[in-house]
Parts: sequence; structure tokens; C-alpha cells
Amino acid sequence: MIEPILSVDDLSVSFPSETGIVRVVKEISFSVGREILALVGESGSGKSLTGRAIMGLLPRQAMVEAKRLSFGERDLRGLSPASWSRIRGQDIALVLQDPKYSLNPAHRVGRQVEETLLLHGKLSSAERRRQALDMLSRVGLADPERVYASYPAALSGGMGQRVMIAAMLINRPRLLIADEPTSALDRGMQDQILTLLRSLTVELGMGLLLISHDLQQVSRYADRVMVMRGGRIEEQMEVADLAQASSPYTRALWAARPSAATYGSLLPTYGEEV
Ligand SMILES: Nc1ncnc2c1ncn2[C@@H]1O[C@H](COP(=O)(O)OP(=O)(O)OP(=O)(O)O)[C@@H](O)[C@H]1O
Ligand SMILES: [Mg+2]
Repeated sequence: MIEPILSVDDLSVSFPSETGIVRVVKEISFSVGREILALVGESGSGKSLTGRAIMGLLPRQAMVEAKRLSFGERDLRGLSPASWSRIRGQDIALVLQDPKYSLNPAHRVGRQVEETLLLHGKLSSAERRRQALDMLSRVGLADPERVYASYPAALSGGMGQRVMIAAMLINRPRLLIADEPTSALDRGMQDQILTLLRSLTVELGMGLLLISHDLQQVSRYADRVMVMRGGRIEEQMEVADLAQASSPYTRALWAARPSAATYGSLLPTYGEEV
């Protein structure tokens, strides 16, 4: 068993509604060690809320309950906003779907990559610049000096996503949550970014919670997968065991792999009645 970085026990998230309290994440339990754990499920199954609950970034009206929500030895339940902002960016970082919404168009890339260093450390500006350039080159940007001095509008989608990853990793967090980090990119770029995330996870000794709706795709990069459905965890397993999944839902997701044989035909869908 890998030593957990994050431990979650019976986490639930609910929202008030006109008809009463609606529970959207339902008593889920899992842990993440120095590994890639893929969290997979269809739209609305509760993946993003799970990631946000771990980051302390749920909307104000959300109600969170957990028997345990801990980062190493640290209890994440009931932290003050000040404690959260120390942990965020420093220990746990989040990469979102689309850099267009995460990068500030008015500031140069270098400044944005250095921002978390500014918040959390007391480095000289020369040292911050050196670390930012180093990170920009680690994420595979060919000309880090030029990217450093650019505004986000001058970057392609793939470059923007690499910049976001650099900005999130510059403080060497122990846990990275990537919520559909490649869905705004074309297929070839998706594979490049996922390959990059995989190698950085190993190189930096992090844990990665990789959120996706594409079981086929993430199974090529993850160590384990956790399938979520209707707010519950349907099943968790090693990627190597997916072909023997016991849950019919996981099997259906797994069987829905697009291939030359299914090209042009409708993929099977999975309904409640199955
Ligand atoms: N602020 C909110 N108030 C009420 N319900 C919410 C709120 N945010 C999310 N939900 C509900 O919680 C459920 C899970 O949402 P979540 O965003 O976690 O889904 P998801 O699995 O990330 O889906 P997607 O693949 O579309 O991103 C959805 O049914 C959604 O409608
Ligand atoms: Mg989501």
C-alpha cells in the first residue's frame, strides 16, 4: 500500500434547494499517494465537486461532511480561509480545463508563473525569474525566455496549458488536482499534456488526481482509476485490472473504447435499467 498524501473518508457534499437538501457527493472514500489516480465519470457525477472539496474551493452554500479529510497528518476540515490560502498553491494545486479562464490576459506569463512564489516565499526577483524559466522549460516550452515575456493571448491552447501547469508546479506541491486539464485541446495535444503530467508526477514525487470523463484515455496514464456515478464511487481499481472490472457500469465505460472496428458506428450507451 502506498503511503497516502491525501485521505478521504465518507466525504459528502450537499446543496440546499427549493425541495430540500440535495446530496450530490455521497459518502465517498479514497486516498491518493505518490501515484496517478484517475477520477472518471459522466457529466454531473460529482468529479469537480470532489476536487473542489479537497481544495476548500466549494461555493459558500455547499455543505461538506467528512469522517476524514486529511493531507498527510493535517486535518483539512474546518480550516480558516488564511490556512487554506497557505495550503493552496503551496501543498495542493489545481489545474483547470482551459487556460483562457485561468490566466490573466493583462499580465505577462512570467509574472503569473512567479505569483505563487511571491505569495509563499521570500526569494529575490532574480531567483524567482530563474525558477520560473526552469519550470517553463520543464513543461516542454521550447523558448522559455520568449514565453516568460509574452502575454497569454500570444500562446496557443497547448502552450497556455503548459504555462498553467508550470504555474501550479513551481512551488512543488505534493498533490496536484487536474480537472479535465486537456478537454479544450485537440487529441494530439491532449496526449502530449497527459504524458507531461505523468512524467512530472514521477519526477517531482507528487500525487496526481486526474479528473476526466474519458476512461479509455486516462487509463493509459494512470496507475489506478476510480469510477464515479451519481455522486458515489462505483468502483476503484488498478488500471491493469480494468478488463476484469466487476461493476457493469465500469465494464460499459471500458467496452465503449473507440477503435477502428467501431469507427463510424454508435458506441453503446449505458442506462439505469442495465
Ligand atoms: N453550486 C451548486 N449548487 C447546486 N448543485 C450543484 C452546484 N454545483 C454542482 N452542482 C450539482 O452537483 C452535481 C455534480 O457536479 P460536478 O460539477 O461535480 O459534476 P462533474 O462530474 O464534474 O461533471 P462534468 O463532467 O460535467 O464536469 C451536478 O448534478 C451539479 O448539478
Ligand atoms: Mg466537472
